[in-house]
Amino acid sequence: MAMLNEKLEKALNDQLNAEFYSAYLYLSMAAYFRSISLSGFANWMEVQYQEEVAHAMKFYNYINERGGRVIMQAIEAPPTQWESPLAVFEATLKHEQKVTGLINDLVELAIQEHDHATNIFLQWFVTEQVEEEDSASEVVEKLKLMGDARGGLFMLDRELGQRTFTPPAQ
Ligand code: FEO
Repeated sequence: MAMLNEKLEKALNDQLNAEFYSAYLYLSMAAYFRSISLSGFANWMEVQYQEEVAHAMKFYNYINERGGRVIMQAIEAPPTQWESPLAVFEATLKHEQKVTGLINDLVELAIQEHDHATNIFLQWFVTEQVEEEDSASEVVEKLKLMGDARGGLFMLDRELGQRTFTPPAQ
């Protein structure tokens, strides 16, 4: 199989960086939740962080497999403070929608460059993004429903504390 062309190599490296930014963002959100003693919310974000590192590693492995060169780029500093748990999850949903757009652009580029293997590689992420948006919006909806009810917040904290990390198949 032909090596990755330069345009795709650059775009995949940029996505690798974007996945590490996502990891960093969610770890920052986890730290925020730790700071306000919502350990279940923090756990959810720590699992999300692990998922994003796994996403980044998929790009790392794929670029290497295709004879490309992985280049580590600077990771932008994420926000560190939010207004409320709802604000965090609204930002999470918005961020995932942005990532979906990045993945879709990558698919377009792979098609344009006639790189079918990269297109197939990216399909996993197309499916994953449906789940990513869905899991964030589920928490947004629950937070909106409970409004200012403190009891609801602690129940949801317990629920989000149950989330565990399952590494994706390589
Ligand atoms: Fe790597 Fe949250 O998508």
